[in-house]
Amino acid sequence: MQEVLKQNIVEKRILAPRDSRKTIGNINVPNPRMVCRNVNVYYGDKQAIRNVSIDIGCNEVLAMIGPSGCGKSTFLRCLNRMNDTIDSCRVTGEILFDGRDIYDPSVDVVPLRAQVGMVFQKPNPFPKSIYENVAWAPKIHGIVESKSDTDEIVESSLQKAGLWEEVKDRLDQPGTGLSGGQQQRLCIARAIAVSPEVILMDEPCSALDPIATAKIEDLIEELRAQYTIAIVTHSMQQASRVSQRTAFFHLGDLIEVGTTETIFTKPSHQLTEDYITGRYG
Ligand SMILES: Nc1ncnc2c1ncn2[C@@H]1O[C@H](COP(=O)(O)OP(=O)(O)OP(=O)(O)O)[C@@H](O)[C@H]1O
Ligand SMILES: [Mg+2]
Repeated sequence: MQEVLKQNIVEKRILAPRDSRKTIGNINVPNPRMVCRNVNVYYGDKQAIRNVSIDIGCNEVLAMIGPSGCGKSTFLRCLNRMNDTIDSCRVTGEILFDGRDIYDPSVDVVPLRAQVGMVFQKPNPFPKSIYENVAWAPKIHGIVESKSDTDEIVESSLQKAGLWEEVKDRLDQPGTGLSGGQQQRLCIARAIAVSPEVILMDEPCSALDPIATAKIEDLIEELRAQYTIAIVTHSMQQASRVSQRTAFFHLGDLIEVGTTETIFTKPSHQLTEDYITGRYG
């Protein structure tokens, strides 16, 4: 990857200058699942996201990259109104999910967060059994009626998360007793259990070793067939392995978006090139 990067960057390309803050690249996709337009996010008086517009396509993995503090997590949290939980946070603009603005006052955030699920940096299983970690949300959302329905969802979600074989004989043991990588797959199973359409992942592998990371990356590739995934990562190798499109953020602006291959081999903005070649960040 580094070699490819170097070779391509030696080519003479005219890059947008560092002070240009307008998004470069195609923000549209033919088959969008989420459509974000002119999204601004403020924490009190401080603006953390400025006028971001981007589509997130069906069955695609969108990677969000950029230096620490550029607003990746803030933007990701907008996509299922997780920022509502932060008092000082205010979001303007439009985020359409299946054609409906998720910030419309009539939208109930509880089902929204089931349809647009989230997996965090640090695995956070509930202090309950493995079984209950997965069964809890389908029960709360009224998706299951009987014990056999619940058993079925628990098994299929753990299967999809690639964890079933490792835990099927100890479903009654605490989720917190699993290894870090297993806990993260349990959290993915928990998100999948309510049949989401979109899964948001904020640095899901940053607390994991390379083997556990590889398992999660394989899983992301499998899940793409069924879900739309937006993933924040600090690892450019990871972004290039798992995503089809990449969005590069810098100081609250979406600087460039394009196919992952283009962003990592022939970016059009000087800031993107600086970042992917490790000049800062
Ligand atoms: N709860 C909060 N209250 C106030 N400011 C916040 C809050 N969360 C984030 N910010 C600010 O918003 C900006 C963007 O932060 P954010 O966490 O979205 O960045 P990030 O790109 O995810 O960074 P990192 O890569 O370090 O996770 C930063 O300036 C940060 O200090
Ligand atoms: Mg973050």
